Amino acid sequence: MKPTEGISHFDLRRQRLAQAMGQGVAVIPTAPEQLRNRDTHFPYRFDSHFYYLTGFPEPEAALVVIGGEAPRTLLFCREKNADREIWDGFRYGPEAARERFGFEEAHPIAALDEKVSAALENQPALYYPVGADPQWDARAIRWLNAVRAKARAGVTAPDRVQDVRSLVDDMRLVKDAQELALMRRSARIAAAAHRRAMQATRPGRAEHEIEAELLYEFRRNGAQFPAYSPIVAGGANACVLHYVSNDAPLRDGDLLLIDAGCELDGYASDITRTFPVNGRFSPAQREVYEIVLAAQRAAMDKVRPGNAWNEPHDAAVRVLAEGMRELRLLPGTLDEILEKETYKRFYMHRTGHWLGLDVHDAGEYKRAGSWRTLAAGMTLTVEPGLYIRAADDVPERLRNIGIRIEDDVLVSDAGCEVITAEAPKAIDDIEALMRDARARD
Ligand code: GLY
Ligand code: MN
Ligand code: MN
Repeated sequence: MKPTEGISHFDLRRQRLAQAMGQGVAVIPTAPEQLRNRDTHFPYRFDSHFYYLTGFPEPEAALVVIGGEAPRTLLFCREKNADREIWDGFRYGPEAARERFGFEEAHPIAALDEKVSAALENQPALYYPVGADPQWDARAIRWLNAVRAKARAGVTAPDRVQDVRSLVDDMRLVKDAQELALMRRSARIAAAAHRRAMQATRPGRAEHEIEAELLYEFRRNGAQFPAYSPIVAGGANACVLHYVSNDAPLRDGDLLLIDAGCELDGYASDITRTFPVNGRFSPAQREVYEIVLAAQRAAMDKVRPGNAWNEPHDAAVRVLAEGMRELRLLPGTLDEILEKETYKRFYMHRTGHWLGLDVHDAGEYKRAGSWRTLAAGMTLTVEPGLYIRAADDVPERLRNIGIRIEDDVLVSDAGCEVITAEAPKAIDDIEALMRDARARD
């Protein structure tokens, strides 16, 4: 992947981390390459924290931030290697990387242990992703012991080891302009893929054929990966929340639930749409769909600065629970359904999550026992659903209907901006798009 244009945002993020740390040294490695089988690797994906702070796309790299009055940032990366570059392609090497990505220093990755041990002398704290990888934990202990070995020479070792991720997580929660530009593009590509999927769906085609349409649209627009394994679930498969086999035929009269988003320059989109395989909602499908759509509207009304994280979820649950009562899926009053949480039989997940470099992005949901307060610049999903598995006590016409509607939203000063709005979700809009596509057959 080519590096993101413009390094000033990355520089600023490193400075903010140094400020949050105070005195101390932070070491943030990128992700290792992963073997898939024998000589084949998984497509390489950098570590999100490392990339957030560097924009540097290569494996075998680590960022070191030395905090204090005049913070310094160091990149450790692979050296240039003419032989390897014939096989694997371009690599920056420390000198070009330093210049291109704006570090004070850059060194070969092989020098990391020696340089970090030296940097830790007389520092109060070591920050790194504690517990994320046993090999890095062992390495951190070796660095600390190397410093402690110099005690008789009057050198002191850090007496505090802290997880650097909690500092970076909090920074990542509020997106800056560069991130928002990428997230909007990622969202538009995913919305185009959902439109393409709706246009391509016909009874008799298979789930994997529609998955192929999604992947084609992602890739042709420059997205490097799907942000997660797409869920393309026809009929009863929609009631399996993490259905990913996507290999069943699509049947006339069933709904198709698609949960798919792409990753563009590291940034995820995450959209779910549910629509009829034959292009026309049945009366029962329509009833359930309108309840989920109303729940999403109610949740989005609660997405605004100053509201608590759980307010959108609570609003969605209320509408869904009332819908379950009206559909005669559950006995009792609305208050009883909410109090006893019997709605969880048909709505068992939360209404959203933070979204960014990770599809389930960094950032706490609760702090000191209280839900986080929404603030401008935060990005999240709003994704209510109803999953009605077949059972004797479920009205026959509702059995095996699974519906989720998921959009990506930005908390703005004005409230809630839906960045995935180009994927249709009103029944009339979906049916019109599918009708037009069929007219061209
Ligand atoms: N596709 C993952 C999620 O919706 O959370
Ligand atoms: Mn989601
Ligand atoms: Mn999703």
